[in-house]
Amino acid sequence: MKWTGALAGLVAAAAGLLVAEAQAQTMNMQEVAQALGVRCEYCHSAPRGSGQAEPKKDIALAMMAMTRELNAKVQAATGKPANEATRVECVTCHRGVAIPQPLSAIILRTVAEKGGVAAVEQYRDLRKQFYSRATYDFSEEALLEMVQRVVQGRPDDAIALLRMNLEFNPQSAKTYALIGFAYTRKVDDASAITNLQKSLELDPTNAMVRGQLEQLQEYRRRRQQQ
Ligand code: HEC
Ligand code: HEC
Repeated sequence: MKWTGALAGLVAAAAGLLVAEAQAQTMNMQEVAQALGVRCEYCHSAPRGSGQAEPKKDIALAMMAMTRELNAKVQAATGKPANEATRVECVTCHRGVAIPQPLSAIILRTVAEKGGVAAVEQYRDLRKQFYSRATYDFSEEALLEMVQRVVQGRPDDAIALLRMNLEFNPQSAKTYALIGFAYTRKVDDASAITNLQKSLELDPTNAMVRGQLEQLQEYRRRRQQQ
């Protein structure tokens, strides 16, 4: 009697361990899914035991190995033991999306391939979906930085993105200044002047904008006298 009791206890303990392990794995899986912003089926795409290919699961398996290697390297580089070193996890890179990329890379590619209108639409969609999450940087600074990279060569696309920014940040002197600059690239001095003036209204201390404005006005006056 005693003996069977002990065996039952052992079996129960083992079963408990198995359940705990399975739960740990499921929890871990939930973390993985959340880190990538996907459902379980994204990777477990084939029916169980079907032997069908699961390409995303294969990538995930390789990513798991990569993450383990990264952690070993972080520990080696910092000389910290595993329990002290900050752990690299899926979310460290992924931040809630399957293909992690900076927002600027996504938007600038769309500008190059489809133009400013499509880029604005994409920015709005992403902002709606990911605002206040850590996935993308929707700050005005980040947007102006990316616009600066295309304003010379693609002033119309830059203006589309900047006008959108004015909806989010209507009092942005920097945005009006950049719109003004974009219009100088289009040789539309009248629009450039209007926007530089608006920028100065919002921030009268910006000497560079004041200088640009005076230069443009002077240039116009001289042209009108000719
Ligand atoms: C990003 C891809 C990915 C997502 C999303 C994902 N899994 Fe997994 N899952 C894997 C990989 C890869 C393995 C194999 C791990 C190993 O062999 O070490 C695995 C293993 C498992 C296992 C162990 C049995 C098996 O099939 O190998 C279970 C159970 C499991 N996942 C459940 C889930 C559940 C439930 C979810 C959703 C909450 C989920 N997974 C989401 C990639 C994923
Ligand atoms: C050091 C950064 C980094 C870490 C850590 C990382 N990944 Fe990735 N992962 C990437 C990048 C970058 C891509 C996109 C590559 C591409 O297609 O351009 C990617 C792509 C993937 C993809 C393919 C997505 C798709 O739809 O094509 C899966 C699945 C994935 N990672 C799973 C994981 C899992 C699971 C973990 C954690 C165990 C993880 N990754 C950790 C950087 C990382």
